[in-house]
Amino acid sequence: METMTEIPVGPPPPGTFYEQVGGEETFRRLVHRFYEGVAEDPLLRPMYPEEDLGPAEERLTLFLIQYWGGPRTYSDRRGHPRLRMRHAPFAVDRAAHDAWLRHMRTAVDELKLPAEQEKQLWDYLVYAASSMVNTPG
Ligand code: HEM
Repeated sequence: METMTEIPVGPPPPGTFYEQVGGEETFRRLVHRFYEGVAEDPLLRPMYPEEDLGPAEERLTLFLIQYWGGPRTYSDRRGHPRLRMRHAPFAVDRAAHDAWLRHMRTAVDELKLPAEQEKQLWDYLVYAASSMVNTPG
């Protein structure tokens, strides 16, 4: 059964989701915390080609900012996201998917967003992660 807190109790707040959750700072905190997890992860860390995770952190931050209605800096720098294609060089199997989402869960929890926004963000991440799986097993 769904809990009462998931029932919307009024009109949504004005502005984009990006603005509602606190703008750039919130997405920077989210992705920074996520990459702290990746940096310590024996499965995920070796998948990242660069020694320095900073540039990867920046790309994911800018992508999420753009996706949720913030500035379009990601596409100015990287072009069309084409995320499935960009993940093709990496074997994203079930284990990688689970590890990725586990670090995201920790990062989302630490944002302490209102329940409704937290659910919106999390549901998207779950959906996006499953769509990135490209390797069986
Ligand atoms: C399911 C597990 C996933 C794994 C194991 C994974 C792994 C990776 C790796 C190894 C890279 C290369 C590092 C880099 O160049 O930035 C990358 C890039 C990227 N990933 Fe993922 N990823 C996953 C899911 C996702 C999801 C769900 C999203 C979006 C919500 C996402 C967004 C991105 C973006 C935006 C980039 C940079 C693309 C570019 O501009 O080159 N990834 N990912």
